[in-house]
Amino acid sequence: MILVFGSLNIDLVAQVPVIPGPGRTVLAPSYQTHFGGKGANQAVAAARIAGAGRVRMAGRVGRDGFGDSAIENLRTNGVDTALVVRADEPTGCAFITVDQAGENAITVASGANMAARAADLPAALFRPDTVLVLQMEVPFAEALEAARRTNSASGTVIWNLAPVPEKITRETVTELLAVTDYLLVNEHEAVDAATAIGLAPSDYETASADLAKAGDLTCIVTAGAQGALAVAATGTRLRAPAPRITPVDTTGAGDTFAGAFAAMIHEKVPLQIALQVGCEAAAQKCLKSGAQTGMPMRGAIAALAQTA
Ligand code: RIB
Repeated sequence: MILVFGSLNIDLVAQVPVIPGPGRTVLAPSYQTHFGGKGANQAVAAARIAGAGRVRMAGRVGRDGFGDSAIENLRTNGVDTALVVRADEPTGCAFITVDQAGENAITVASGANMAARAADLPAALFRPDTVLVLQMEVPFAEALEAARRTNSASGTVIWNLAPVPEKITRETVTELLAVTDYLLVNEHEAVDAATAIGLAPSDYETASADLAKAGDLTCIVTAGAQGALAVAATGTRLRAPAPRITPVDTTGAGDTFAGAFAAMIHEKVPLQIALQVGCEAAAQKCLKSGAQTGMPMRGAIAALAQTA
């Protein structure tokens, strides 16, 4: 089973000519409402590849209409929502601006996500075949607890270190590395995490090798158009290219990679295939607006078409 413990948001998205800097205002013709939250996005991406009934989502939403629709959306996508609990705070909401190159800037109002608790996860969930997927939009201590319980059951922990907290500490990164099997980061997150533990990486490749060694894990860097790089603790490297596309919206691309990758790790495919599937899925996502809209179904992934 793939268990995603993380955030659920509603995304309010405006297409802008340019992302405003501090003190600036830009006008957008309109806005769209999409389903989001790194946790929910990764759950949907995994379910579209793994199939209905293989993914469980755990987290919290408010007792509001956004919460109702966030849960309903997961169910429609074949994700089990029995562990999505109602909180007193409002459902998380993300305010997203997307520019003409498909790049984005996001502000997340966490709301109910900060009430997520590892204690909501029943002991029976933690088994050797459990693949736990984590991000950084629910309290770190709770995610860490879920990871430790997965470790104790000999399950697999995939931790997407996103978003990197503004002031990430050595202690946070050290604790995270100690419980993680696959660390997923983008180029900037790789450098930030390695720097936090006192290393001085010159670039993301060095950073990922440092992190893999420090945590005795596999570090995977998603590098947009440059594809993905996996570095093992031994220093062994694998690469997968990104399909060439013209992005419409990159929001959720990393989440799509994470979800698709988790589905592949759960199936125990070779790491090279897992990287390829992640890159293909993320590229397809970028062709549509909204975090989840463009996430592909299994049959649309060339590397998996034969196994649909
Ligand atoms: O990774 C993209 C996601 O980040 C958005 O869906 C938004 O909700 C924020 O959590």
